[in-house]
Amino acid sequence: MNGKLYGVSVGPGDPGMITRRAWELLQCGAHWTYPIRNEKSDSYALDVVRRSGLALPENHTALIFPMTHDKEKLTSYWLRAAESVLSILRRGEDVLFLVVGDASTYATFSHLARTVSSIDEAIEIQTIAGVSSFNAAAADLQMPLADTDDTLAIVPAAYGVEMLDRLLADFDTLVLLKVNSVLDQIIDQLEARDILKDSAFIERAGMPEERIVRDVAQLRGEKVNYLSLLLVRNRHRIRGPKVRGCRKKKQ
Ligand SMILES: C[S@@+](CC[C@H](N)C(=O)[O-])C[C@H]1O[C@@H](n2cnc3c(N)ncnc32)[C@H](O)[C@@H]1O
Repeated sequence: MNGKLYGVSVGPGDPGMITRRAWELLQCGAHWTYPIRNEKSDSYALDVVRRSGLALPENHTALIFPMTHDKEKLTSYWLRAAESVLSILRRGEDVLFLVVGDASTYATFSHLARTVSSIDEAIEIQTIAGVSSFNAAAADLQMPLADTDDTLAIVPAAYGVEMLDRLLADFDTLVLLKVNSVLDQIIDQLEARDILKDSAFIERAGMPEERIVRDVAQLRGEKVNYLSLLLVRNRHRIRGPKVRGCRKKKQ
C-alpha cells in the first residue's frame, strides 16, 4: 500500500507556533522532506523544526525548488521532486513535506501536491493548516489585520509593484510578501501616497533574529532577508456607504 503525503505547516519561525497536529505527525516515524533553493542552501522550514528540539529523523530528503520565475525550469524541478516523493510513497512510507508558515499560502507544497496527483491520482494527500507569517507579524507588530468591514489583501509584491495602485483603491490593509527584491520601489510608492508612516516591516518573524522596523523609510537601499514582509494600513481609502450584514428581525 502506498504511503500518504502530508503538507505540514510549521509556522513562521517560533517553534511554539507549530500546531499540535503537526507536532504529532513530526514524531510518527514518517519520512521528512523539505524545500531548499540549491544544494548548498538551508531549509527555513527544517530550521524551525530543529529549533523545536526535534532531531532530523534517519529518513529525510531535501528537495530542490530553485528561486526563479522561469516556468519551464520550475516545472522540471517540481517533476523531479514529485518523482522523488513518489518513490518513497510507493515503498509504503508516509512523507511529510515541511512548509514554513502555512502550507496553503504561497507554498511550494501546492505545486508538489498537484504534480504528485497528476502522476498518480490514487496517492492520498493531506494539508495540515498552520500559522502564516503575516498572522504572526500582525500579532508581533500589534497591528490588527482587519476589523468590522475592513478589506484585506495579501500580495506577493515581487510579482508586480504596479498592482499597488489598484489595490489601494479597494483595500484597507495590504500584506506585502516577498518584498526583499522590490523594497525601494514599494517605499517610494507608499511615500508618494502618504501611507509609509502607517506601514511596518518585519524580518524573520518569530525567529531569534526577528527585526521590526516602524520607520520603514530608513530601509531604503538596504538588503533585507527573503523572510520579510510589510503590513500597510491604508487610511486614505475612500469607503462607500455602510451596508448592514444582518436584516432587522421582523416583529
Ligand atoms: C513563499 S512565501 C511563503 C509564505 C508562507 N507559506 C506563509 O504562510 O507565510 C515566502 C514569503 O513569506 C514571508 N515570510 C515567510 N516567513 C516569514 C517570516 N518568518 N517572517 C517574515 N516574513 C516571512 C516573506 O514575505 C517571504 O518572502
